[in-house]
Amino acid sequence: MDNNIVSELISSYVDAFYDEPDEDLSELRIFAEDRYVPIILKDTEELLRIILALQKPERILEIGTAIGYSACFFAKTCGAHVTTIEKEIDLYQTARSNIEQLGCADKVLPVFGDAVEVLERMNAARPPAGESGFDFIFIDAAKSHYREFWDLCVPLCADDATIVCDNVLMRGLTATRPEEAEHKHRTSIRNMREFLQFVKELPYADTCILTVGDGVSISRISRQDYIEFQKNDHEEDRTARSGGRS
Ligand SMILES: C[S@@+](CC[C@H](N)C(=O)[O-])C[C@H]1O[C@@H](n2cnc3c(N)ncnc32)[C@H](O)[C@@H]1O
Repeated sequence: MDNNIVSELISSYVDAFYDEPDEDLSELRIFAEDRYVPIILKDTEELLRIILALQKPERILEIGTAIGYSACFFAKTCGAHVTTIEKEIDLYQTARSNIEQLGCADKVLPVFGDAVEVLERMNAARPPAGESGFDFIFIDAAKSHYREFWDLCVPLCADDATIVCDNVLMRGLTATRPEEAEHKHRTSIRNMREFLQFVKELPYADTCILTVGDGVSISRISRQDYIEFQKNDHEEDRTARSGGRS
């Protein structure tokens, strides 16, 4: 698949160093590419492989399963338990069957539904605080909902968690000033720019934005700082409601 952020020359040079995962995953990548199903690009996969090797997460949450490629890649690469959410029934069913065929059914739990609703239910049931939370979250679904996904994912994080968001540069569009972009792209550019500004400024997250694949953001979340942040937020709300009286 094309990667429009870096030139064809550079991406094909770098892709030549791509470490093929096992045969099953390689076949699944070809299956996806033949059918134009968007899955993680090869250089994104390489980056994730190294992050997973360094972080050794035990519980992974993924927003956007498609046919289950990245979910199986996560499970096979680091042995983590993976919960992955997909809202298209056909893709969800294909993912389930791929997960079985690749021998990942004991590690990967595919969940059917709109991620916003599923995450709301997960938050309402029992936000898995601290040790039982997710230590790695991969957001790879509808880009216009990244802020909503983020707000619902952070309470599900373990003490020190990583959140990776894919496609944040939207084939370079994000870098275009909205007023100079084609009209049809302006809202999505504004939304993504606002989202990246938002995560960069959060006091509980340390975020970098990289020109890998279609652009990825990588954030380290401190649960302790998040709890502090929420307390201050509630405090400010209370003060505002009481008209400034403490
Ligand atoms: C880029 S694909 C995911 C690719 C997959 N992570 C991989 O690399 O193998 C994005 C997927 O997110 C799904 N999606 C989009 N919005 C969603 C939502 N609100 N809830 C759940 N899934 C969603 C789409 O149907 C699509 O299959």
